[in-house]
Amino acid sequence: MAEPPVIDLLSVASFANGQPHGQFRWLRRNAPVYWHPEPRGGGFWAVTRYHDVRTVGRDPATYSSFKGGVLIDDPSGPALAASRNMMLMMDPPQHTRYRQLVSRQFTPHNVQGLRPRIDHLAARIIDRVSARGECDLVRDIAGELPSYVIADLMGIPLEDGRRLYELTEKMHAAEEAVGQEERNIASMEMLNYAMGVAEHKRKHPGSDLATQLLNSHIDGDRLTPAEYGLFFMLLINAGGDTTRNLLAAGMLALFENPEQRRRLQADLEALLPGAVEEMLRYVSPVVYMRRTATCDTQLGGMKIRAGDKVVMYYGSANRDETIFANPDRFDIARTPNEHIAFGGGGAHFCLGAHLARLEIRVMLREIFTRLPDIQPAGPPQWLASNFISGLTRLPVKYSAHAPLQ
Ligand code: HEM
Repeated sequence: MAEPPVIDLLSVASFANGQPHGQFRWLRRNAPVYWHPEPRGGGFWAVTRYHDVRTVGRDPATYSSFKGGVLIDDPSGPALAASRNMMLMMDPPQHTRYRQLVSRQFTPHNVQGLRPRIDHLAARIIDRVSARGECDLVRDIAGELPSYVIADLMGIPLEDGRRLYELTEKMHAAEEAVGQEERNIASMEMLNYAMGVAEHKRKHPGSDLATQLLNSHIDGDRLTPAEYGLFFMLLINAGGDTTRNLLAAGMLALFENPEQRRRLQADLEALLPGAVEEMLRYVSPVVYMRRTATCDTQLGGMKIRAGDKVVMYYGSANRDETIFANPDRFDIARTPNEHIAFGGGGAHFCLGAHLARLEIRVMLREIFTRLPDIQPAGPPQWLASNFISGLTRLPVKYSAHAPLQ
């Protein structure tokens, strides 16, 4: 057996340069369902192989999101009770009823209808930086589009989308980076904002998602204020930093693999869809999701007991060498590429998958047609989080141009 690396999937130090692929590789080979201790006692099962992650994600009856939430830290009793108003923490059949309220907006057909607006927003983002010749790709480019798009969908001003996105970042940061109190304040601020939107939309209804949520019924009843607030929060939080991180870390992968970048730029239209899939696999912006076992069961030869925490590591599953040839190689033409960056295909499969793909394609096209010689201008900085993977900073430079609009 190879010398084991220190396994610590909790410390943000393990994520200082991206996901801990050395640890994941060792776990996949030697302990694919690994009992990972927690510093305050107890522990969780770290699931690192592709098939095991899919098994867990597709079996909500055995592996529940409702029982203990989706984060490794156990929430307090009141926090757990409150968070169960959010569909991310529900199990079928309750989950199915809530998801149906919004799923139509995110079908491929409806997402395609957003294309002209997304094209316009992407052009505007590049217009703002094109004359400068340099910017921070994370803040000035990658972070802008997802926050604008979700603001548009919710029917709120674009600039408010930016502010809410800053709150998302705080909520998703590790405790070592942003204390619990500051994270709670950020959640409260977002819920307060959602309540203000509700008040406004009741007087001035629109064709947006916020109005639609306010008019929704579950089993004949309107959503409660808590259900509405947490739905609002989920939609804002789920698509902001994930999409940003995919674009920024995906661009970094292209910078680090210049032959892949040359290929892509030489045939952008043909290669863009595959390149986006490979970025999703390679970056895997969501590090993990947790489930809780509802009964005694077996996984990867290990005995899981009812109540155990079971954590699916998507970034590891997406580098599983039994599924992906040369998994650490970034290959924009990889086929097949059945990655599970959006989840393993179960009930909670990412609602925004089509939207995220469209946003990334549009933004990459805009970047490579308008800033074709874009290059890194300083070292990247990784996000201090064991939950969401991505960059907080990536200085870039390019030939300056006048804006188009
Ligand atoms: C690259 C970008 C994205 C990635 C990698 C990503 C990843 C994921 C993953 C892994 C899950 C599964 C959660 C679980 O199994 O418990 C999820 C769920 C979800 N995502 Fe995304 N996501 C992205 C973008 C978006 C966008 C743009 C939206 C738009 C609003 C969105 C909305 C959601 C929602 C609402 C859920 C919860 C679904 C449910 O509980 O049924 N995501 N996402």
